[in-house]
Amino acid sequence: MGKLLIVANLKSYKNENEAKNWLENFKKISELNLDPAQKEAIVCPSFTQLFSFFSYFSSNNINASLGAQNVSPFDEGAYTGEVNAKQVKDFAAYVLIGHSERRNNFKETEEMLVQKVDMALRYGLTPIFLVQGKETPIPEGVKIVAYEPVFAIGTGNPDTPESADTVAGVIKTARVDLSVLYGGSVKSTNVKSFTEKSNIDGVLVGGASLDAEEFIKIIQNA
Ligand code: PGA
Repeated sequence: MGKLLIVANLKSYKNENEAKNWLENFKKISELNLDPAQKEAIVCPSFTQLFSFFSYFSSNNINASLGAQNVSPFDEGAYTGEVNAKQVKDFAAYVLIGHSERRNNFKETEEMLVQKVDMALRYGLTPIFLVQGKETPIPEGVKIVAYEPVFAIGTGNPDTPESADTVAGVIKTARVDLSVLYGGSVKSTNVKSFTEKSNIDGVLVGGASLDAEEFIKIIQNA
C-alpha cells in the first residue's frame, strides 16, 4: 500500500472567525512530524476560506494540502456564481467531485461530473471522485476515488471495514491504477479499522473534521 490520504471535508461550515480558530488548533499537526511518504493530510474548506487556509498554511509551514469541495463544469467565462478550476488551482491541489450531497441536492448528473473532472484535469487539479457504491461510474482520468455509502454519511453508522474493503477491492479490480478512500462516520476511534484494510488507501472525514484536534487525532491514528 502507498501513502495514506486523510481528507477533511468541512462542508458548508465555518465563517471566517470559526475558520481562524480551526486553523489555530490545526497548527499542532506539526507535532505529528508526518512523513509525507506515509501520510498526506488534505483539508477542503469552503471556497470563501480557501485563500485564508492557503495563506495560513504557507506562513506557518503547515504540512497539509488543500482541496476545494466543488468546481465549475465550465471553463472561465460568463457563468455567474461559478468558481472554475483555473481559479481553484491558485490555492488548491485537489478537488472533491461527485459527493452525494451535490448529486442529491444540486442534481449533479454523471455527465456534469465528467465535465468537472475534465476541467480539474485541464488545470492540473487532482480530482477526488466520490462514489456511492461499486456500480457508480468513474470518469476517465480519475486516480483517487472515495467510496461513501449514503447511509453512513453523518449518521454515526459507518459501513463495516470488511464491506468497505470489499467494495474498494471490486473498484480496483476494474481499474488497477486507482487509490480508494473510505468515507462515512469516520472518527479517531474507528479510523484505523479502515486504514488497516489492504484495499483502503485513506479516509474522507466530514463531521469529525470540524474539530481540528479530533482531525489531528484521526491523522495520528490512521
Ligand atoms: P461524515 O461525512 O464523516 O460526517 O459522515 C463524510 C462526508 O460526507 O464526506
